[in-house]
Amino acid sequence: MVEDVIKVKDLVKVYGELRAVDSITFDVEKGEVFAFLGPNGAGKTTTVEMIETLRTPTSGSIEILGMDVKKNRPEILKRIGILPQDFSSFDRLTVEETIKYYADLFSAKCDVEKLIKLVNLGEHRKQLYMNLSGGLKQRVGIAVSLVNDPEIVFLDEPTTGLDPRARHDVWDVISGLKKEGKTIFLTTHYMEEAEVLADYIGIISKGKIIAYGTTNELIDKHFKTINVTIKGADEDVSQIARTMGMPIKSTENGNVTVEAAGNDQIVEFLNSLKAKGVSYMSMDIRKPNLEELFLVLTGESLITEEQEAKK
Ligand SMILES: Nc1ncnc2c1ncn2[C@@H]1O[C@H](COP(=O)(O)OP(=O)(O)OP(=O)(O)O)[C@@H](O)[C@H]1O
Ligand SMILES: [Mg+2]
Repeated sequence: MVEDVIKVKDLVKVYGELRAVDSITFDVEKGEVFAFLGPNGAGKTTTVEMIETLRTPTSGSIEILGMDVKKNRPEILKRIGILPQDFSSFDRLTVEETIKYYADLFSAKCDVEKLIKLVNLGEHRKQLYMNLSGGLKQRVGIAVSLVNDPEIVFLDEPTTGLDPRARHDVWDVISGLKKEGKTIFLTTHYMEEAEVLADYIGIISKGKIIAYGTTNELIDKHFKTINVTIKGADEDVSQIARTMGMPIKSTENGNVTVEAAGNDQIVEFLNSLKAKGVSYMSMDIRKPNLEELFLVLTGESLITEEQEAKK
């Protein structure tokens, strides 16, 4: 049976003139990875910290593990784990000491060995926190969020600022948590992260949820076409696409991307290229992704890995 462990209804948070969270409603199911995706300033941290009982809503209701956040704060805090945005810890404690410190602080009887293994920090256990790379520090943060063996883990942008390798290592840790049966509320502005990890996605922009569903549902709902890119063709394939009534999406660096209405049209198009003796280096056939969905819904771009790398 499906069990909703988080139920958010008509949630609002106002800061002065700003409606940072503007009447949002959504549920999170037990055992799923829910990605809360949105650009800087969208209202992700404000929302997540209201669910964690750390900020007070202006109005609306939040139920977590069947409890009202307004009435059951101590009990809720015992059963959830939190990795805050910009987590940092004591420079001069080792990985092992850090986890033990937080376990003692929360009077949690935690299996430090199991946690170190779960976040894959075995070979770094004796290293000082200050000497760890950004990705390793985040993994210590995830371990700390788990000392009370929580049922729900909130990770607020656990991979922002990490290089792709470190990001993938954090993804592995998150997948491991899911296998342990934990519900994960993941805040991110990387659409790829949501695509890889999430069972369900809520996209937030300017305080409002603008899309909600699985990746496939969201893409299928908003995009009826499939992008076909022909790379390095020896002739102008856009002309052939035009005669078939297929819209041209882009022509860049010898790559032509056209929109196909469905699988039949793709086959027809490729057959037509073959019949006309067009040769090309490679092709790519794919549905638009969440990044393109966000662009369509808001006219703005989420931060992409390419943009991040150029910083
Ligand atoms: N304590 C506060 N007082 C006043 N305004 C705030 C406060 N906290 C957040 N805001 C504003 O509310 C909006 C939402 O902020 P929030 O931190 O929730 O966004 P976010 O989606 O987490 O962004 P980021 O990706 O940068 O972490 C922003 O415009 C922010 O400046
Ligand atoms: Mg934030």
